[in-house]
Amino acid sequence: MEKKVEVIMYSHPIHDFQYKNGELYCEGVKVSAIVKKVGTPVYIYSYKTLVDHYRKIREAFKAVDPIICFAMKANSNIALLSALVKEGAGFDIVSGGELKKARLVKADMKRIAFASVGKTEEEIFDAVNAGILLFNVESRPELNNINRIAGKMRKKVQVALRINPDIDVPTHDKINTGSLKKKFGIDLKTARDIFLGQKEFKNLRINGVHIHIGSQIIKGEPFLVAIEKALAFIDELERDGVKVEFFDIGGGLGIVYKDETPQTAKEYADKVLPLLKGRTFRLLMEPGRFIAGNAGIFVTRKLYLKDNGVKKFMIVDAGMNDLVRPSMYGSYHEIIPVKKVGGKKVHCDVVGPICESGDIFAHDRDMENVKDGELLAVLSAGAYGYVMSSNYNVRPRSAEVMVKGRQWAVVQERETFKDLIKGAKVPGFLK
Ligand SMILES: Cc1ncc(COP(=O)(O)O)c(C=O)c1O
Repeated sequence: MEKKVEVIMYSHPIHDFQYKNGELYCEGVKVSAIVKKVGTPVYIYSYKTLVDHYRKIREAFKAVDPIICFAMKANSNIALLSALVKEGAGFDIVSGGELKKARLVKADMKRIAFASVGKTEEEIFDAVNAGILLFNVESRPELNNINRIAGKMRKKVQVALRINPDIDVPTHDKINTGSLKKKFGIDLKTARDIFLGQKEFKNLRINGVHIHIGSQIIKGEPFLVAIEKALAFIDELERDGVKVEFFDIGGGLGIVYKDETPQTAKEYADKVLPLLKGRTFRLLMEPGRFIAGNAGIFVTRKLYLKDNGVKKFMIVDAGMNDLVRPSMYGSYHEIIPVKKVGGKKVHCDVVGPICESGDIFAHDRDMENVKDGELLAVLSAGAYGYVMSSNYNVRPRSAEVMVKGRQWAVVQERETFKDLIKGAKVPGFLK
């Protein structure tokens, strides 16, 4: 049985999207008023929810003053990034593009960690040039490459090795990164050999340990297992004379999509902090979803209700190109009307217009029976939403809006057809 919308909305004080007199608001602004100006589909972010979630982590861990590197892959809208920079956040980046965005929003380069299993020569060069805090390195060949490039640039570069703790992580297979069956990290034996033989890398200071075991992990246990394994690894290194100056515990904290009861930042900190007592390394964290996930909704318009005699389909004007999580991971997102209608619900799939059976937002859901043309809000869409959108079916990417109190602004314009064909050419030999 699905939970009723009202229960979901009010039992988890997770965000600042609330009904007032049957109308959905983001903070002090009517969602329908935004749509009137901007159209659909549109992502709408609450500044307050975003910043509150960042502060929750900062507060919970304040005893060790960690460097909180927001995982930019979760949401790289520059308004959102600027808001986090003002709060003191750094970034976990995974590409040259993310580095450029970090510079654009004037992030402190000494709060930037660069992960990814496949950094290119150009990306490494740019990151060394920018003076980032450290590279999180995932293989020996990559280490060789960074060492060579740093040498050419006459720079000494700090490196953390991302170790793969090889543990079971209870989350979706596609976002599980903590096992050796996945491409991520370095096995403990190789990592240890690298630390002990680091003289070979003249232009590197290999002085950090990094883990990231996966995403949308709602209980503390797997984190603790991984952290304890990493700490034992660090202890062994220190016994052998290697000084570990940074310990990056990654991201992965789960959020509420349906009826989960994920650990809070405080519960997480209460479990992790005792393990860190007496340690001298600087702690880094890379939360993405926890900070941005519940800070965003995605608004789409119902087009039609189709009944093929076997099943009903609520067809909306957004597709998997706009929000791919349900198609890609089978993820659940609550979908509620922007104006409540009440009355008898309709049992249906909520689907987009794209030519794929996987173009779906909800399976077998009891939906409020809104009229054609009415608006629906897909909740908890602030992380891995817009950033994963595409132009599949020649569909322009949606607009993004940020709300702060009673103010709001478009923070990413909707793409136009002109944007979509930029750089496209029919060659002379076809003419
Ligand atoms: C290395 C690394 N750090 C942090 C994150 C952020 O994860 P989450 O959004 O679950 O906090 C990811 C996500 O894939 C990641 O790969």
